[in-house]
Amino acid sequence: MQRNSFTRLFAVAALATAACGAHAADNIKVGLMLPYSGTFAELGQNITKGFKLAIDEQGGEVGGRTIEYVAVDDESAPAKANENANKLIKRDKVDVLVGTVHSGVALTMARVAKSTGTLMIIPNAGADELTGALCAPNIFRASFSNWQAGYAVGALMAQKHKTAVSLAWRYAGGDEQTAGFKEAFEKGGGKVLRHLSLPFPSTEFQPLLTEIATLQPDATYSFVAGAAQVKLTKDYEAAGLKDKIPLYGAFLTEGTLEAQGSSAQGMLTALHYADGLDTPRNKSFIQAYKKAHGEDPDVFAVQGYDSAQLFLAGLEAVNGDTSKKDEMIVAMQNAKLDSPRGPLSFSKSHNPVMNMYIREAKGNQNVMIGMAVEGLSDPSPDCKM
Ligand code: BEZ
Repeated sequence: MQRNSFTRLFAVAALATAACGAHAADNIKVGLMLPYSGTFAELGQNITKGFKLAIDEQGGEVGGRTIEYVAVDDESAPAKANENANKLIKRDKVDVLVGTVHSGVALTMARVAKSTGTLMIIPNAGADELTGALCAPNIFRASFSNWQAGYAVGALMAQKHKTAVSLAWRYAGGDEQTAGFKEAFEKGGGKVLRHLSLPFPSTEFQPLLTEIATLQPDATYSFVAGAAQVKLTKDYEAAGLKDKIPLYGAFLTEGTLEAQGSSAQGMLTALHYADGLDTPRNKSFIQAYKKAHGEDPDVFAVQGYDSAQLFLAGLEAVNGDTSKKDEMIVAMQNAKLDSPRGPLSFSKSHNPVMNMYIREAKGNQNVMIGMAVEGLSDPSPDCKM
């Protein structure tokens, strides 16, 4: 071989190795923007545990690229969301933005993700707009829309009651879940007598409970979440309302039954996950989660797990080459996930299509006792893409 052509061959080979090496050596970066303090801290932690479990089960890498994490505590503070999301995208150069719990924070994150074209997976926040007017090819939700969560509870309550009062935090999460509840409850023949609200994350329930006692509805619909739901069921029981005016909600007893004690026993809720879902997938998930974390998973752990399953569907389609974003998006929107919650697919607006179960709080479990709505899809009328 001529020296010149040998040199050229060597140079080409070296370049190819460097390109491959850079690709293989570069980690895939996951930006976790979640609440790790405040009312929603435990929700953020459980989402993180679920997410990492799914990634670890796949060996922690795809196509030779290790998956690493950059985590930020978003404090459920909408005012800090823009800066936090921009830091993860511009400074840390994450390949995917995963977050968050609070609807108001998630709305700002989605605007940043949309304007920068960053892939975003929402592991909880239900804000309808995220897969409505704000929908975008690069934005996916692996949890629920607020409409879905409220609608399922309304469908359940309409089977049992004629009148209700609603009580919720005054922000997108509370306003929209209450709207979904009202739609299904009134469609089923019920009447909402009054809506009572308080600012997020207040737990000053007493004046509202006094009003409920005066209004005497057949039942109460509620939306508060995290640590606040423990205070609500305890205050409700202490006010003497528990056995007279049944209290409902979607998340009301999720992950907190031990702390709620007698105040939550017997309560009915409707949600997209339930204890005792008798599928091989759910059983193996519970076993693996317990082994990894020494505790039972809740719906937030499931949502974190499914967020990672969805990301993996995209990554595997491109063998870890995150520069092929369009191919990843196609694989993600067509994903049919075998979720611990049951079959999980995605609507045209990238929102989950899934079963909503009726659960009864018994001991430390939200036991599945029926189906509130099968295969519920948010119609997302405002999503144009
Ligand atoms: C929300 O803000 O969308 C939300 C927060 C906690 C639980 C459910 C929904």
